[in-house]
Amino acid sequence: MKRFLLGALLGFASLAHNVFAAETPAITAAAELPLQTQSLQTPSLQTPSLQTYSRDSVSLNGEWKIIVDPYENGYYNYRYEPFDQQATPSQNAYFTDSKQKSPGDLLEYDFDKSASLQVPGDWNTQTDKLYYYEGTVWYRKTFDAPIAKKGERAFLYFGAVNYRADVYLNGKKLGVHVGGFTPFHYEITGKLKDKNNSLVVKVDNKRHADAVPTLNTDWWNYGGITREVKLITVPQTFIRDYKIALTSFADKTVSGSVLLDGAKGGEKISVKVPELNIQQTLTADNHGKASFSFKADKAQLWSPENPKLYALQISTGKDKFTDTVGLRSISTQGKQLLLNGKPIFLRGVSVHEEYSAQGGGRVKNAAEAQQLLNWAKGFNANFVRLAHYPHNEDMVRLAEQMGLLVWSEIPVYWTINWNNEATYQNAEAQLTAMIERDKNRAAVIIWSLANETPVSDARNKFLARLATKARSLDDSRLLSAALEKHYRADNANVAVVEDPLAEHLDLVSFNQYIGWYDGAPEKIDRISWEINYNKPVFVSEFGGDARAGNHGDVDKIFTEEFQENLYNKTLKMLDGIDGFVGTSPWILTDFRSPRRHLPGIQDEFNRKGIYSNTGEKKKAFFVLKNYYDRKAEQKNTNN
Ligand code: GCU
Repeated sequence: MKRFLLGALLGFASLAHNVFAAETPAITAAAELPLQTQSLQTPSLQTPSLQTYSRDSVSLNGEWKIIVDPYENGYYNYRYEPFDQQATPSQNAYFTDSKQKSPGDLLEYDFDKSASLQVPGDWNTQTDKLYYYEGTVWYRKTFDAPIAKKGERAFLYFGAVNYRADVYLNGKKLGVHVGGFTPFHYEITGKLKDKNNSLVVKVDNKRHADAVPTLNTDWWNYGGITREVKLITVPQTFIRDYKIALTSFADKTVSGSVLLDGAKGGEKISVKVPELNIQQTLTADNHGKASFSFKADKAQLWSPENPKLYALQISTGKDKFTDTVGLRSISTQGKQLLLNGKPIFLRGVSVHEEYSAQGGGRVKNAAEAQQLLNWAKGFNANFVRLAHYPHNEDMVRLAEQMGLLVWSEIPVYWTINWNNEATYQNAEAQLTAMIERDKNRAAVIIWSLANETPVSDARNKFLARLATKARSLDDSRLLSAALEKHYRADNANVAVVEDPLAEHLDLVSFNQYIGWYDGAPEKIDRISWEINYNKPVFVSEFGGDARAGNHGDVDKIFTEEFQENLYNKTLKMLDGIDGFVGTSPWILTDFRSPRRHLPGIQDEFNRKGIYSNTGEKKKAFFVLKNYYDRKAEQKNTNN
């Protein structure tokens, strides 16, 4: 029996030494590389993560000055040599944020007199001029340093920047980050001026064949500083990371560990869970790490029906850190999926991190994340597949508070360059950052490695290596990926899921579009399935486009009636699959896509939403709600 209990302790000590090495990525290496590959050669791995969500911070959100720079004139001189590899960068290097000092000064930019954008937020939906823009935009924020107590340390934290960020503080390069959906940070202790600090970020959202994702996606390439930017000050020795979870469901043992940064060893650490009357004092080893465990016989286990969260208080010396955590067990047993030892059916939906109800794009605050999750609750969902990249931290934490289980995935999507080591390192860095950030979120039960990737030896090796890495970081959650189906050679009515990657996964998940991309809806009625794995089966996508308000006969494509009929037939078919434990239909709401051009119907939106992008319920909404209501009733009668 395969049991996965949340809480495998991470070897913090093994990561601690990375902290500084990772924070100063190989910028020099970039200079030695041919320019066209620079953007992929810079390691973006920063472990262990800096847990910041519940820390006091100085927000750098709001208005930033910007310069749209398609020729990257602010980064390369006229010989196309990067300014930032020069000993004394020219004043025309935009990251120096230079000012004209004398009348004869030749400066061809001025942030103070330039346009502005709001951070967080994509640039595409803030101004028509940038709607389709793929290239570099320079962002500049000036700020005064927070009053720091003696010996305090300062960190600069970015929730995410799509796609590459070159970060400079007061004209000095802090580093480069590659990957559009994961957090990163830089220690800036001693690098701040009391007044008028200049933070410059070169944001480049150009797509690359060797990038992750690659050139081709079915979502809008929203560029910009798309998540929050904040300044955190902490004592010399502070709580950098921690892990806590239910590590034995049978005897309700909770285990965890704390990692201090700046520790000499021997420091005392207090861990409290007041509601469970837990208080322990630990002693840090010379890596700053300390482990703990306790029995939690009285703990209420987290579940969609009872998303119980406990206050966790960790303190040491001058630093105090609080968070809220849930305790639960997720496991598989043959074809069964078990939450807290009981079979669970995942009443899911796929979700893009896009809230375009008022014309916007990338989700930019907790209110927008809340709205999307409320819409999912509207049809009695207990699960969200956050596609196709790690979503913002608000989305995951709100899902946890609302009792929504989470599938979280990295954008190893479609035709990634499986033969490029830099591409693998990029994918691994994004996987690591995703797991590091959300390893304490009880709602997250599945890490997904890939979506609809064509089978080949190179792809199988790449993903098997990624699976091994994922388990080394966290062997407590389930691994999956959205596989594809094909038909039996001797019988076109038998759909088969058979993929070499499946042996590395705990859940056999796949996308299928019978009745949309694959035949007409009538075809659904005659299909049976062959899925020969002794593992639970999850259908990670199905669906079809319908323009809200567009009505007609069931055989008229792009009508709500067509989509409604497709849902009815598909759900009936899926119920017949042995080991079927749930589904996440594609998709919660219509979303922008550069691949969808049918005037009057798509208008650059993928219309597979169960809701329109403005929250109108389509007829398929009621089919799915009815189906999930019945599943929920069955669960209640079974328990
Ligand atoms: C694929 C893919 C989605 C895409 C969907 C569609 O399954 O995973 O990202 O949007 O199909 O074609 O609508």
